[in-house]
Order: sequence, then C-alpha cells, then structure tokens
Amino acid sequence: MSSRWPDALRDALGLRLALWYAAIFVASALALVVLTYVLLSASLRRYDRDTIETTLVQYARAYMIGGAPGLARELREGNLAATPGPLFVRLLGPGEELTFFSMPQQWRRFDLSQLDTPRLSGEQTWATLDTGDGGDELEVASVRLADGTLLQVGRSTDRRKELLARFRLVLLVDLAVVLVIALAGGVAVTWSGLQPVRALRDTVRGIVQTGRTDARVPPASGGDTLGELGNLVNAMLDRIDRVVAGMRGALDNVAHDLRTPLTRLRGIAEEALTSGDPVRQRAALAECVEEADRVNAMLHTLMDISEAETGTMALTREPVPLSALVQQTVDLYEDAAEDRAIVIETEVDEGLVVPVDRTRMRQVLANLLDNAVKYTPEGGRVRIRARAHDGRAVLTVEDTGPGIPPDELPRVWERLYRGDRSRSTRGLGLGLSLVKAIVEAHGGSVDVSSVPGTGSRFEIRLPLSTIA
Ligand SMILES: Nc1ncnc2c1ncn2[C@@H]1O[C@H](COP(=O)(O)OP(=O)(O)O)[C@@H](O)[C@H]1O
Ligand SMILES: [Mg+2]
Repeated sequence: MSSRWPDALRDALGLRLALWYAAIFVASALALVVLTYVLLSASLRRYDRDTIETTLVQYARAYMIGGAPGLARELREGNLAATPGPLFVRLLGPGEELTFFSMPQQWRRFDLSQLDTPRLSGEQTWATLDTGDGGDELEVASVRLADGTLLQVGRSTDRRKELLARFRLVLLVDLAVVLVIALAGGVAVTWSGLQPVRALRDTVRGIVQTGRTDARVPPASGGDTLGELGNLVNAMLDRIDRVVAGMRGALDNVAHDLRTPLTRLRGIAEEALTSGDPVRQRAALAECVEEADRVNAMLHTLMDISEAETGTMALTREPVPLSALVQQTVDLYEDAAEDRAIVIETEVDEGLVVPVDRTRMRQVLANLLDNAVKYTPEGGRVRIRARAHDGRAVLTVEDTGPGIPPDELPRVWERLYRGDRSRSTRGLGLGLSLVKAIVEAHGGSVDVSSVPGTGSRFEIRLPLSTIA
C-alpha cells in the first residue's frame, strides 16, 4: 500500500482492529434492523387482521338489523368501518346463493372457490388465498350467521407488502450508511488507540537503527496500560543508560588503573634485558612474576568493584546471622593477630540477621579486619561490634592503630588510594573501595572516623532481615 495511506490501514494489526470494530458495529446494526423489520411486519399483519375482524363484526351486526339490503346500503353509504383502503365483502345465503358481493378489480385473480367456510352458525374462520405467483395474498375472515348466511370480509396484503418493501429499502440505505460510518470510525478509533503503540515502535526502531539509547517514548496523558507500558520502557531505557554509562566508566577506570602497574612490569623486564647480568635478570624475572600476580589480583578486584558499583554484580541474598559471619572472619585473622600480640574482641548482639550475599559480605569483613590488624602496631587491640540501631544492623571495626589524618579520611574509599604512611605495607589500595561498593550494592552505607594516634573506627550499616 502507498505511504499516503493512514498508518492504521498500513499495519496489519490496525487493519484487523478496524475491521473487527466495523464488523461488530455492522452486526449490531443488522441485528437491530432485522428485529425492527420482523416486529413491524408482525404488527402490521396483526393490524390488518384486527381491521378485518372488527369490520366483520360490524357488518354482521348491520346484517342482523337490516338484512342484506341494510348491509348493502350501509356499505354503499360507507357508514361502517372507516377502514383505510378497499375490502372484499361477500354475503352468501343459506343455499350458497350470492346475496352481496364487493371486490376491487385487481383482486379478482384470487380463486374464491378455494375458501374454506364455517358450517356452524356463530363459527368464525380465517383463510388465506394466494395465487401461487409469490405476490400478495388475500386474507379472509368468514362467519356463519344465525340464519345460515355466510358473511366474508377480507383484504389483500398488497398494501402491507408494498409498505414493507419500501421499509426494506430504507433499511438497506441505513445499513449502507452504518457500514461507512463503522469503517471510518473503526479506522479512526484504531488509529488513535494505537497511537501510543506507534510512538513506542518509533522510539524502539530509532534506538535499534541508531544504537543511541537517549530516545524516549513521549509521556502518555492517560494512566492506561499503554501509557504505563511507555513509561516502563522509558524507565528501562534509563536503567540501561545508567548501566552502560557505568560500564563505560568502569572500563575507562580499569584501563587507567592498570596502565601504571603494566608500565612498571614492562620497565622491569626491559631493564633486565639490557643489563646482561644473569643474577639481576633472575631477580627481575621473579619481580615480574610478582608484579604480574599483583596486576591479576588488581584486575579481579577492579572488576568486582565495577560490577558492584554499576549494579551488575550477581548477589545471592539470603538471611545471614551476623554473629556467625563475624566469627568466621575472626577465625581467619586470629593467627596473624596473635603473631603480633594483637587482641581481637567481638561483641555481637545475638539474633542480628542481615539479607546479604554471604561470600561478598565475608569479603567486606575480611578487608576491614585485614586493615585493622595490618595497620595496628604490636600489642594493640581490635574490637568488632554489631548491634541493631534505627532498624538497621550497625557493625563497627575499631583499632588502636595510628589512625588516619583528617585530610586523608575522605580519600580512603577511593580506588587505588593508599595512605602516605601505608606505602611500606603490602596492599593494592582497593580494599576499602571494594567494601564501600559491596555494602552500597546491598543498600547499606559506610563511614569512617579516626583520631590520629589513637585509632580508627570503620562503621557499616546494613538493612536488617525482617525475620530477625
Ligand atoms: N585500620 C586502619 N588504620 C589506619 N589506616 C587505615 C586503616 N584502614 C585503612 N587505612 C588507610 O586507608 C588506605 C586504604 O585502605 P585499603 O583500601 O584497604 O587499601 P590497602 O589496605 O591496600 O592500603 C590505606 O592505605 C590506609 O592508609
Ligand atoms: Mg586493605
């Protein structure tokens, strides 16, 4: 079809809906028309018969009073039965002799001998004569009067048939009009009804063709299903946009962060190549292996952080009791702490259950405890506490280490940030970034406070399980 056609006709769904609409509209109009026609035809027929019957009764009365001449006079003078149109009237004496007869010329083709007549006086019968040509019929009511005379009054259905034929024509014209209205209405209703769907299609098509996800479905006015669908698609596109932007940023970050260690790796290898001293070369190779391991570990952690930050990290949340989680982590670091005469104290309220990914949360605790043990000098103390506060689980890790200078405090959560005095200790500067990313991916928050020279205090807040 040409592109000048309205959209509703060009797409199959629109056309189908328009046709359905028109079909239902026309079908109901047709039902109405047929019903009207049947009822009208029945009531016309009843009206005709009523007329005939009333007239018959009146003529019979006139006959009783004035005999055949009386009836004839009445008929001539037209005093009786002010009925519309001509009637057939016949009076037959007891010996079947014709006493009175009146019939319009055009009805003479009916064969009156076919008429069924009542035998008993007072008895009344109905009979219908047809000429067999499918045209009008003659409806006749007969009554046998007390003196044996037979009175017949009848009328042809020609007027009725003509009326109905004209009515049929009117109805046909009506139906044609209805059909046109239904088709036009169907197209119009479908076109406007499918407007949100077309907008949606155009938006999605634009995105598929250009690859840009910044296009949006125009907001719908009504709060109907299609409008809601548009809004949902927009929300989905927003989300996709955010994730894509997040991933792009994460990729940039990872590339940027790996540049330095890779350059260092290359530098070590290059220096070894040019030195020519086998001992130095051996040492350089060992350093390379170490550096490669670092890069590998870094890459993994950077990817984890990016995933957690962009919301693409797969978290298997389950109700986890905090006490068990803390105990398992403490067990891991007990030996390291003992070696440096550091005491780890735990004070975890029973019954604290958090909806978290067990492995990821263990990583969080391990990183906090690792820092605490690592940065606290010999003989120090590390204290882990967990309690419920304001409907959340609050877990703190405090140490008696050197603390963090105030200007460094906000930076400890940055990727690859390492405090000035921490350069000599092992570490990638990614531990706290991972802690923050994971906790926030769980809907929690992190905080740090420190008094330099006295110690540091890290706090994480997590939603509590309702079943706690
Ligand atoms: N318990 C702590 N006591 C003192 N400084 C800390 C403590 N935890 C973290 N920091 C500071 O925050 C920085 C970032 O920590 P982190 O991200 O875990 O990296 P890393 O431990 O690899 O250095 C550390 O380099 C250190 O300067
Ligand atoms: Mg660390």
